[in-house]
Amino acid sequence: MRRALWMAVMVFGACSPKSGSVHAGPEGPKGHEKDRLHMVSSQIESRGVRDPGVLRAMRAVPRHRFVPESQRASAYDDRPLPIGHQQTISQPYIVALMSELADVEPGDTVLEVGTGSGYQAAVLAEMGAKVFSIEIVEPLAEQSKATLTELGYDVTVRHGDGYAGWPEHAPFDAVLVTAAPPHIPAPLKEQLKIGGRLVIPVGTRFQSLLRVTRTKDGFREEEVLPVRFVPMTGEVRQR
Ligand SMILES: C[S@@+](CC[C@H](N)C(=O)[O-])C[C@H]1O[C@@H](n2cnc3c(N)ncnc32)[C@H](O)[C@@H]1O
Repeated sequence: MRRALWMAVMVFGACSPKSGSVHAGPEGPKGHEKDRLHMVSSQIESRGVRDPGVLRAMRAVPRHRFVPESQRASAYDDRPLPIGHQQTISQPYIVALMSELADVEPGDTVLEVGTGSGYQAAVLAEMGAKVFSIEIVEPLAEQSKATLTELGYDVTVRHGDGYAGWPEHAPFDAVLVTAAPPHIPAPLKEQLKIGGRLVIPVGTRFQSLLRVTRTKDGFREEEVLPVRFVPMTGEVRQR
C-alpha cells in the first residue's frame, strides 16, 4: 500500500512461534492468542490498518514475551510499556502503523534503529523481511537478541549508535526508526534503495511521524501524524 495522509490523532510511540518452543502454557510463545486477536481487531484494524501481512504478523508475534514479567498482564494493552533503562516497547497500533507505512514485502531487507525489546523487529521478521536492528543501550541489545533467538526469529541485532545506519547491509528496502531524532539522520536516507521507505518520528517537544520515499530524482516526504517517542540519543544530538 502507498497510503496518503492519516488522520491527525495523538498517539504514543515499540512468526508464529516457531516449532520447538521452549515454554508451553499460557505464558509460553503460544499463549495469549485471544488477547492478540482482540488487540488486532480493537486497536489496529479499527484505526484503519489494512495490510494483510501486518495484521497476520501482529496476530502471531507473542508480545507478552517481549515485556518484563512485571508487565506481562498489560502486554496487550493499548499503550507503550516500560522495558527498563528508561525505554519503552511502543504501543501496538504504532508498531502496526509503522510496519504498514514501511510497505514491507517478503524478502525485503529492512533496517531498524532502536531494537528496544525486539518486538518491532519480530513483527518485521514475521512479515518475511530480512531484519537488521541496532540498539544503543547494551543490556537491551543483549536481552532482545536472547528473546528473538529463543522465539526463533532470524534477526541480526547489533549494539551501537544507529545514526550512521549499517552501510555493510545497505541499501535497504525500508528503514524504521523507533526513537525520535531532532532531524533526519542523512545516512539513513542515503542507505535507502530507489523506491525505499524511511519511517521515522522527528522532533523534540512536538514530533511528527514521517515517511520519506527515495525516488530516482531525490526524496519525497509525507507527514503522517503527531506522535510521542523516546528521544534518539547518541551522535544525532551533537549535530
Ligand atoms: C521506543 S524504544 C524501541 C521500541 C522497540 N522498537 C520495540 O519494539 O521494543 C526506542 C529505542 O531506541 C533506542 N535508541 C535511542 N537512540 C538510539 C540510537 N542512536 N541508536 C540506536 N538505538 C537508539 C533506545 O535505547 C530504545 O531502546
